[in-house]
Amino acid sequence: MTTVTGTDSARHDSDELLPPWWRQATVYQIYPRSFADGDGDGIGDIPGALSRVPYLAELGIDAVWLSPFYPSELADGGYDVADYRDVDPRLGTLDDFDALVAALHERGIRVVVDIVPNHTSDQHAWFQEALAAGRGSAARERYIFRDGTGPDGSEPPTDWDSIFGGSAWERVADGQWYLHNFAVEQPDLNWSNPEVRADFVRTLRFWSDRGVDGFRIDVAHMLTKDMTEPLLSKAELEALPKDGNHPMIDRDDVHEVYAEWRQVFDEYDPPRTAVAEAWVDRSRIPLYARAESLGQAFNFDLLQADFDARQFHTIVDDNLALAASSGSSTTWVLSNHDVVRHATRYGLPDAERTETGAPTRKHGNEWLLSGGREPQLDREKGLRRARAAALFLLGLPGSAYLYQGEELGLHEVADIPDAQRQDPTFFRSPGEDVGRDGCRVPLPWTADGASLGFGTGGAHLPQPEWFAASAADVQDDDPDSTLTMYRRALALRHELQTDEQLEWVDTGEADVLRFRRPNGWEVVTNFGTQPHALTPGREVLLASGPVDTDLVPGETTVWLAPA
Ligand code: GLC
Repeated sequence: MTTVTGTDSARHDSDELLPPWWRQATVYQIYPRSFADGDGDGIGDIPGALSRVPYLAELGIDAVWLSPFYPSELADGGYDVADYRDVDPRLGTLDDFDALVAALHERGIRVVVDIVPNHTSDQHAWFQEALAAGRGSAARERYIFRDGTGPDGSEPPTDWDSIFGGSAWERVADGQWYLHNFAVEQPDLNWSNPEVRADFVRTLRFWSDRGVDGFRIDVAHMLTKDMTEPLLSKAELEALPKDGNHPMIDRDDVHEVYAEWRQVFDEYDPPRTAVAEAWVDRSRIPLYARAESLGQAFNFDLLQADFDARQFHTIVDDNLALAASSGSSTTWVLSNHDVVRHATRYGLPDAERTETGAPTRKHGNEWLLSGGREPQLDREKGLRRARAAALFLLGLPGSAYLYQGEELGLHEVADIPDAQRQDPTFFRSPGEDVGRDGCRVPLPWTADGASLGFGTGGAHLPQPEWFAASAADVQDDDPDSTLTMYRRALALRHELQTDEQLEWVDTGEADVLRFRRPNGWEVVTNFGTQPHALTPGREVLLASGPVDTDLVPGETTVWLAPA
């Protein structure tokens, strides 16, 4: 039996008897520019999201996580922030934001916003000031500027690569270079500078004071860096262990930043929460999830797994144990704005997905690039498996993070013309990586109408014709639709939610996983293709597909009522 303690006595909600709200919350990620467009300019916005609050309430989520809505030139879908304490005028105003928070809170839905501390936009006032102030200035000390190498300094300081491709250094007019681990338009901040630290504390208070309940911390593992000269080469960096002392990644001293943030979070009642996006070795995730640090961390294992019983079983055991060791609850994620949608991942031929452990997006990209447009995708199989995986995940202890559109069973959009692509990963690695636009196409709300109900105008990324069949209004009253399944699952999850424990039940079949929660609620997932016989007489509360009496068909999950 895997047992995870459900108590975290240090940080309870006001009611001492209840565990904090976030521990087993269902959090729905909104990528604002692609969710709903209130003013018909083709870009989703805050008033658009406000108009969909009834939909979110009916879906039954506990919290919304808003990806960045701040002023941004959109070099990286809003993850290039020009002002951390405002709303992009194309997306609305601070008043609109307050209205959205109020409407969500009225429905009992909490609000989590994205904080992007590793880098700003190059349009941020600080970076503009750094460019104008010149070398050696205090303004440049907020970023990571260095002189170049070579006789005239025209070579970058090091041979480091940006995560989005190309060099990690960019030269400015006076000849100095600045570090950008992501796009050129995303200069890395210097977290050794107390001014940088103080400014983010101000930002956290700004949003907390406006009623925001929690924060998702972007690239949480890269803020602090050891830039002591001489700088190491790429090969030298790659050879170093990531044990907390690596100059660039997952340094122990990043937790000094989060300890300070924790004090800020705990100034509020209930304490503000945070979840780390930290792509680090699994063994180091608890450092971020500890109550003294951010309090919770994403576990991205399911994003990278095949639809495979053995892999799912191991991932659940590993992550429940890790969560227990940190005192936090774990987080389950099948899709987000950075990866190929899971319905599509699961519908690819196995041969396309054999490279276990490789980033999922790569699998998708191999498919997208290998011979044109969707020829190898089995859409029905992908959706069948996606539904089964969703019910598996929603039965697990811990919090579940859903990505907008997965409740509609959306597939990745492969056929975006190159001229309409927006993602910097596409531009910085032409021909190798089509980027992440395919999971960011504006949602289909209605089967007809301009931009399928996304707004009254167009859509900033083209919606394919087949989106209409998945529109929310088509699925609304259909008892078999994916939307209906998610609504039922979330409603039942509220009723059935219990202590953060799970016990595996032996099914005698390698392809079938079955687990029981402390109140007797059971989840059975058949990852194989042959039907699995259940003990007769158990009441099936919910199923991801059609079920026969006492049989779980292949690629199907059922929830069984407590015996
Ligand atoms: C995170 C975000 C991703 C963004 C990157 C740089 O990984 O999820 O969308 O591109 O950080 O901010």
